[in-house]
Amino acid sequence: LKARSKLMMISEHGDERGYLTVIEGNKTIPFEIKRVFYIYGTKEGIRRGFHAHYKTKQALIALSGSCTIHLDNLERKDEIKLDCPTKILILEPNDWHEMYDFSVDCVLLVLASHLYDAEDYIRDYELFKSLHT
Ligand code: TYD
Repeated sequence: LKARSKLMMISEHGDERGYLTVIEGNKTIPFEIKRVFYIYGTKEGIRRGFHAHYKTKQALIALSGSCTIHLDNLERKDEIKLDCPTKILILEPNDWHEMYDFSVDCVLLVLASHLYDAEDYIRDYELFKSLHT
């Protein structure tokens, strides 16, 4: 059976000053964080991603605004809306993913289990299908 990406809610520390939310590697999320990147200023109507990975696991959080993640592991497809900073999507390497419907103020934070390696990307959907069926 394929590993399934999953949505998690994490707790926030709120008080009269506002909110603070924390993510710890190998604790809040099931991997050590090796890389962090963020996607922002996304133009209207843009869809990006269009790949799966061989080994990289990721955690996605919309720190501000919202966006939707299309997931496809060939057994099932899902559309996950990220619209609050306490919602985390744990994205398995075997999920083809596309991100769309970004609000103008969306800041999408991505925590990754591996350093950037172009060789870890599967960008051809036909190849993805052949590897996973
Ligand atoms: P790209 O893979 O096109 O983004 P997406 O999957 O969201 O469509 O990445 C955009 C550019 O950034 C591309 O030139 C590769 C580069 N990049 C890095 O150099 N390091 C990274 O960790 C990532 C995620 C991208």
